[in-house]
Amino acid sequence: MTTETKHLSRHKIAVSKSGERVKVLISRAKIQRRIREMAQQIRKDFPDEPLLLVGVLKGAVMFLADLARQIPGEVTFDFIAVSSYGKDSKSSGQVKLNKDLDSSIEGKTVIVVEDILDTGLTLRYLLRMFQQRKPKNLRVAVLLDKVERRLTEVHADYVGFPIPNEFVVGFGLDYAERYRNLADVKILSLPAGTH
Ligand code: IMP
Ligand code: MG
Repeated sequence: MTTETKHLSRHKIAVSKSGERVKVLISRAKIQRRIREMAQQIRKDFPDEPLLLVGVLKGAVMFLADLARQIPGEVTFDFIAVSSYGKDSKSSGQVKLNKDLDSSIEGKTVIVVEDILDTGLTLRYLLRMFQQRKPKNLRVAVLLDKVERRLTEVHADYVGFPIPNEFVVGFGLDYAERYRNLADVKILSLPAGTH
């Protein structure tokens, strides 16, 4: 996609052909610094445990990859894929399991790794399911937390950044599968009339 970069006031705003605009919310440097801190905290909380990082596809891929490289000691990965379904998916909290984990988590120390905590419904579903599988410890790491949007009480043990109620893309997060490859987290604005 070709993008033309305009300088509006002091902020760089990239405008794509489709009229979608993105503006940096959290820079790549800040993200990397925070991930390093989170990784250290996780290892401090479980100094001698092998850790199983469970990434929620696809959004958590970048976060998991960078987090894992900053955690010393024994670390393994697994992945799960889910999607919301039904017209009322947001309020009903119905989640469809598209891909389950490859291995059992029984007796393991599991860190669920998610890109963003929004309504909390996806994570609530996942935590209930994982809890039934009897892990030794179950923790949650999210890069972003849209606190205002929460519809259900769900606790994240490690939070990268609380963010305002804006639609964000980049660093794994998408809009219609695009923008996941951006190294920064950016706010996406759609052209007027689109929804
Ligand atoms: P929740 O069940 O509402 O907490 O949904 C979380 C999922 O919605 C995330 O894993 C993302 O896939 C998606 N999501 C929520 N907010 C955003 C956003 O601002 N940008 C991109 N994806 C988002
Ligand atoms: Mg996601």
